[in-house]
Amino acid sequence: MPPKRALYTIAAHQQQCRDHYVNRAGARAIAPKADRLSSMSVTIKTPDEQEKMRVAGRLAADVLDMIGEHVKPGVATEELDAICHRYIVGTLDAIPAPLNYRGFPKSICTSVNHVVCHGIPGERTLKNGDIVNVDVTVIKDGFHGDTSRMFYVGQPSVIGERLTRVCFESMWVGIRAIKPGARLGDIGHAIQTHAEKSRFSIVREYCGHGIGRIFHEDPQVLHYGKPATGLELLPGMTITVEPMVNAGKRDVRLLTDGWTVVTKDHSLSAQWEHTVLVTDTGFEVLTLGSADRAA
Ligand code: MF3
Ligand code: CO
Ligand code: CO
Repeated sequence: MPPKRALYTIAAHQQQCRDHYVNRAGARAIAPKADRLSSMSVTIKTPDEQEKMRVAGRLAADVLDMIGEHVKPGVATEELDAICHRYIVGTLDAIPAPLNYRGFPKSICTSVNHVVCHGIPGERTLKNGDIVNVDVTVIKDGFHGDTSRMFYVGQPSVIGERLTRVCFESMWVGIRAIKPGARLGDIGHAIQTHAEKSRFSIVREYCGHGIGRIFHEDPQVLHYGKPATGLELLPGMTITVEPMVNAGKRDVRLLTDGWTVVTKDHSLSAQWEHTVLVTDTGFEVLTLGSADRAA
């Protein structure tokens, strides 16, 4: 009898690593070690591919610009999903990447309050004081743009507002660490330091990622780490920075739906995400909203 599981191969390992982002068990099993990651492939985008990433990124940001006014008390998260789906497919002529991605049933992720990430849109209606992350990934002309923002539903609590702001700042200090010659640990360290300064915690089991023709490419972009460690950034790489910051402890739990990640202690959690290109001199954020593009 042949063994049930394929023997270990580099290809299988690389696939497993790509699966990592959405597979907590896998994340534990393949906890990143520099020696194993070194065999993985990181793609460098050509100028032509970079332009396609720019287009995909802008469209993903357009979806978030569009959905903001719909995020209000009384709306069900599945209504937000339906609106985004119609807009992505109908108006943008693009593909919502999450839909059917490893069995994910909807076109966006909506993560409310203590939901850390990968919340599945459903009948739950938003109420005043909720904080919600809307995470949008579109495919246009074969390339992915991935971005998420926090939205306040009505008036946020003091802690909800502070967590959302510190998470936003953490994402940006991470992005500002991006330049050729910098290393992934520099990004993670900047993010972690900023969040922990406010006595918040960084989720470890999920991370940012390379992105391009493939939704979750190498490398893994951890939101914690040590300066001057990890992969060196090179011009033409495209990665996401998407820290998940908890008001309480960093531990998370996966619900039985196989997707929804929540804080173990039920404390609030926030996340922001941009897709970023490493340029010759620094970085270019590909998923800026219209307000930030104007600035
Ligand atoms: N958009 C998420 C990310 O930032 C991934 C969602 S995967 C899904 O990488 F299947 F849950 F949609
Ligand atoms: Co995302
Ligand atoms: Co992402």
